[in-house]
Amino acid sequence: METKTIRFLRRGEPISLANVPPDRTLLEVLREDLACTGTKEGCGEGDCGACTVVLAEPEGEGLRFRAINSCIRLAHSVDGMALWTAEDLAAEDGALHPAQEAMVQCHGTQCGFCTPGFVMSLFGMYQNHVCKGEAVTRELAQAELSGNLCRCTGYRPILDAAQAMAGLPPVRVDQARVAAQLREMNEAPAPGQGAYLAPKSLAGLLAARAAHPQAQIVAGCTDVGLWVTKQHRQFAQILDVTRVAELRRVEQYPHHIAIGAAVTLSDAFAALVADRPQLKTFGERFAGLPVRNSGTLGGNVANGSPIGDSMPVLIALGANVVLMSQRGHRELPLEQLYTGYRQNVIAADEVLAWIKVPRPTKAEQLKAYKISKRYDDDISAVCLVVNLTLDGDLVQRASIGAGGVAATPVRARQAEASLNGQRWTQQAAQRAAAALRAEFQPISDMRASAAYRSEVLGNLMQRFWLESQGLTQINLESFELEEAA
Ligand SMILES: Cc1cc2nc3c(=O)[nH]c(=O)nc-3n(C[C@H](O)[C@H](O)[C@H](O)COP(=O)(O)OP(=O)(O)OC[C@H]3O[C@@H](n4cnc5c(N)ncnc54)[C@H](O)[C@@H]3O)c2cc1C
Ligand code: FES
Ligand code: FES
Repeated sequence: METKTIRFLRRGEPISLANVPPDRTLLEVLREDLACTGTKEGCGEGDCGACTVVLAEPEGEGLRFRAINSCIRLAHSVDGMALWTAEDLAAEDGALHPAQEAMVQCHGTQCGFCTPGFVMSLFGMYQNHVCKGEAVTRELAQAELSGNLCRCTGYRPILDAAQAMAGLPPVRVDQARVAAQLREMNEAPAPGQGAYLAPKSLAGLLAARAAHPQAQIVAGCTDVGLWVTKQHRQFAQILDVTRVAELRRVEQYPHHIAIGAAVTLSDAFAALVADRPQLKTFGERFAGLPVRNSGTLGGNVANGSPIGDSMPVLIALGANVVLMSQRGHRELPLEQLYTGYRQNVIAADEVLAWIKVPRPTKAEQLKAYKISKRYDDDISAVCLVVNLTLDGDLVQRASIGAGGVAATPVRARQAEASLNGQRWTQQAAQRAAAALRAEFQPISDMRASAAYRSEVLGNLMQRFWLESQGLTQINLESFELEEAA
């Protein structure tokens, strides 16, 4: 099948690559086709950040920069974008970029293997914060480097480097020029789509889906990428949803927000956090920043992993999903999307188009808990999200989403029933904890045993009760990095 030529900007110059297979990764293209071996492969599964590169697309007058993992990103997905790798930062005379110079001055590089990835996350931080005059706090640096692992535990000098960048002589990307070059490139796309379909409109997406139901749908590729790199699956044809303008938007309505399926996890959580600030930490604990910058909310929901993080939140918030095809659209509560382990009701000609999230009410009490082995950049063993609508101490409505306890993300109906119409007391919380433990029969796997999962599920309800009474907990969220330094 014909493959469209990939075109992107690097160091201000257009690069054209013909005959790239649809399932070839960006890292393979960089290292093997372009012989740019400065970008490293560590894990090949989005975990370590050694392969981090930065992408930019036009936004407003300038550019939107995103650090992403090139190991699980498909090469065709960067068509029409600007790309920076660790080899693109130094000036022509060899002068280092502040992201590099700060690493040198702060002794931030030890083994050096992970360093190109750290430098690229620093470059993303530089563009998104330092160039806008925003301070890089320790908290920000830690959040933005959450997708980069240093196996020799040398995080402190790297965090120092993040904070030192602003004090070095500035280096600016000519954003207006790059944006104009990208607009010109995108106005005259290379002809033909063939093996990698990337429609730009919803109508185009629905037509492509109807015409090519066998094509593998891909969004940010943070799940599908691992099927390529770890399971060695091959895809003859790919349908990429991330260029569809309508699905890249978050739309605000009086009673709900509608998040397009192709909105990145970073932007989707920002929209959720704008309405519900208590979800901030939970959002930042979803993978690491490069995964959130590539992965989409629609991909998380459509993938339907039982340990996926956004679904328990969305279930507890009462979110609906909108499925669309050329035949029309249908809307259903998110929990009704799933029929079994990684199985759903999305038909062969349908796509997930929107996730509609009700706005908060004043009476809402909401907490989202994620239990994972590692605090950052890890997948949940158990997730519990409790949302109570209280009238005084009377539970008007309990809405509870859970992950890691069944074959799909689930609504905890029995625990909800035990609370609805009851007074919110310690006894009610204990009954709800018991109902939660009785309602699900989790499995044992490498993340946790079944017994642990059951125990912790009920414990989280107890914790929710304590926190609802204003009892402060000792928890990792209150841990200040500076104090340990
Ligand atoms: C290192 C790492 C850490 C991770 N940590 C977490 C974590 O903490 N919590 C968590 O929940 N997940 C985590 N994930 C999993 C993953 O990042 C998420 O599931 C992500 O939201 C997937 O979105 P995507 O856009 O990358 O989907 P893709 O990989 O592109 O697609 C996933 C699936 O959804 C389908 N799909 C995508 N969009 C649509 C659509 N619009 N309509 C129909 N089908 C569609 C695809 O066909 C595919 O089957 C992690 C992944 C990695 C690599
Ligand atoms: S190589 Fe580890 S995240 Fe890509
Ligand atoms: S500097 Fe590479 S693992 Fe620490």
